[in-house]
Amino acid sequence: MNKIGIITSGGDSPGMNTIIQSIVNYTYKKKIKCIGIKNGFNGLIKKKFFNLSKKILIKNINGLGGTILGAGRSKLFFSIKGRQTAYYNIKNKKINGLIVIGGNGTFTGIKKFVKEYKNIPIIGIPGTIDNDIYGTDHTIGYDTTLNNIIKIVKKIQDTAQSNKRIFIVEVMGKNTGFLALNSGITIGALYIFFKKLNLKNLKKIIEYIKKNLNKHKIIIVAENKKIGQASKDIYNILKKKKIKLKIRCIILGHIQRGGSPTFLDRMLAIRLGINSIKTLINKKKNKIIGIKNNKINYIPLSKI
Ligand code: F6P
Repeated sequence: MNKIGIITSGGDSPGMNTIIQSIVNYTYKKKIKCIGIKNGFNGLIKKKFFNLSKKILIKNINGLGGTILGAGRSKLFFSIKGRQTAYYNIKNKKINGLIVIGGNGTFTGIKKFVKEYKNIPIIGIPGTIDNDIYGTDHTIGYDTTLNNIIKIVKKIQDTAQSNKRIFIVEVMGKNTGFLALNSGITIGALYIFFKKLNLKNLKKIIEYIKKNLNKHKIIIVAENKKIGQASKDIYNILKKKKIKLKIRCIILGHIQRGGSPTFLDRMLAIRLGINSIKTLINKKKNKIIGIKNNKINYIPLSKI
């Protein structure tokens, strides 16, 4: 193996740049050429290749949020024609190993690709704030996002306490709800909706609120398929119950996905980045590399 390509795909996540930096450093040492592919799978289809080997070594990108490669979801890659073009572009560029960093959608894409084209070794690295990849205890970007949510909600708590208000805070992470559950526990939320809305539970919450009017209340809600819908539904129900407290609704949105990665995300990014290259060198392919009980874990693509 003498030339690898790196793609960051799907929604960006803090720590993606740390992975890139660690891969560039390691491949430089091993005399493997490193090619950056811009804007996810679309860049692969449109030949947006550039040489990463020297440029980035000079800049320290470990601490930058987002991804210098650009990310994004590609409809084209979900078509047979798109994957075919991607394959020929990889072959023509003489890339003989691919590192793909992303989440659920990204790995669904490469699963299809490796079924059709068996001679391009691929290793996937879980880079998503959602923490919803099978076989890894953590995904890169999840810890930073949890910390972002905790910091922002602390500010909301300050104003909520001053005005004795109820705040419904909707967080990302889709309806898998890991961000909602774990941020909610650690900020001491009154209630956490991390799966479906359960109206029976709302009844209990309303009783509690009515008995504790002098306390502020934070309700954390996991976004559902349609952003903003879950928090709006809870807001509408509570509004009808004539609670004497004012209710405010906040959708945290992309502010929670940005910023410099935390120690945990950086360390995980460095470990998985370096080990992804070692894996390719050792001729293992078509796996997702993750972390289980603090040990590197390989997950067959078929299990994702
Ligand atoms: O999958 C990552 C994620 O941030 C989800 O938590 C969220 O639902 C989605 O991406 C938002 O996507 P976009 O950035 O395209 O609005």
